[in-house]
Amino acid sequence: MRRSVGEASLRRQIDAVRASGLRDLEAARDVAALEAAWVLYLARKGQVARLFEQLPGAAAAERPALGKLLNELKVQLQSAHADAEARLRSGPAAAGARLDPTLPARPRWRARPHVISLVLDEMKSIFKGLGFSVALGPEVELEHYNFEALNFPPNHPARDLQDTFYVTDQVLLRTQTSPMQVRVMESQRPPVRVVVPGRVYRNEQLDASHAAEFHQLEGLYVDREVSMVDLKATVTYFVRQLFGERTVTRFKPHFFPFTEPSVDVDMSCFACQGAGCGICGRSGWIEIMGAGMVHPNVFAASGYDPEAYTGFAFGIGVDRVAMLRHGIHDIRLFLENDVRFLSQF
Ligand code: DAH
Repeated sequence: MRRSVGEASLRRQIDAVRASGLRDLEAARDVAALEAAWVLYLARKGQVARLFEQLPGAAAAERPALGKLLNELKVQLQSAHADAEARLRSGPAAAGARLDPTLPARPRWRARPHVISLVLDEMKSIFKGLGFSVALGPEVELEHYNFEALNFPPNHPARDLQDTFYVTDQVLLRTQTSPMQVRVMESQRPPVRVVVPGRVYRNEQLDASHAAEFHQLEGLYVDREVSMVDLKATVTYFVRQLFGERTVTRFKPHFFPFTEPSVDVDMSCFACQGAGCGICGRSGWIEIMGAGMVHPNVFAASGYDPEAYTGFAFGIGVDRVAMLRHGIHDIRLFLENDVRFLSQF
């Protein structure tokens, strides 16, 4: 087949324009250079358009193939132009062009402890001052420690108040920090003075005062001849440290399987001093913890002699204390990780 001279030279020109066009577009370092390359190659009178003008002069049989080559060249250079434009818009050159040195500096990001951690630290340090140490236990707990060893008989209605998430029949997410009472006693001889902070779980209907995940601070004090007086003195000292010297406590009979006798502890409202206000629901009192004297069955389950030792235990809802202290009205805020909330503490 005979090739016209015109066709061979047009092919060569197409290759040459492709090579220099791609090189210039990729080399463009600013908007002006990119614009110049566009004018040179892609504008109405650019080199690509000039090549198209030569097409009618080519042999009729070659025209379709040459036309296809020319179209490919045009598309290739257009996309290289688009790439270069995107690169300039997002690259350091673009940032440099938009930098406004008169803007005030952005405040530096500062990490800080979660408000729950802050309140827990405060509570722990009060108990450390009384000679308590701190222990941590597993959140995924055995049914044995969470219920059985704490004197919750199987099928006892007290378990209904603490429905939780089961991994298996015997493994669950702990509903309370109380299982650590047993674990601590199993691992050491008396006397015991320990507090246990930690996360607990319950299968709750969520609302402003109920979360499926919250925090408790457990306390356990065991020795010879520990009495209810020690419980009352310790608890009263604690709430006075936390809420002020004028705080008064009252102890109401209650039921917990693992303590006998058991009490609910109220403190006088820190906001109204007992007169009655919105914070204490007009009663003047705020329920602050459950407590009691360690049940003999719990001592037995832990390997302590119930005849030789007595002790008291308590469990404080940390989220509730944090809400009271900081005037927070929705427990769900603790779990949402909203920086606008967290950065206030
Ligand atoms: N574990 C109890 C609860 O979650 C709170 C509690 C009550 C803990 C009395 C105690 C206690 O140690 O003595 O409801």
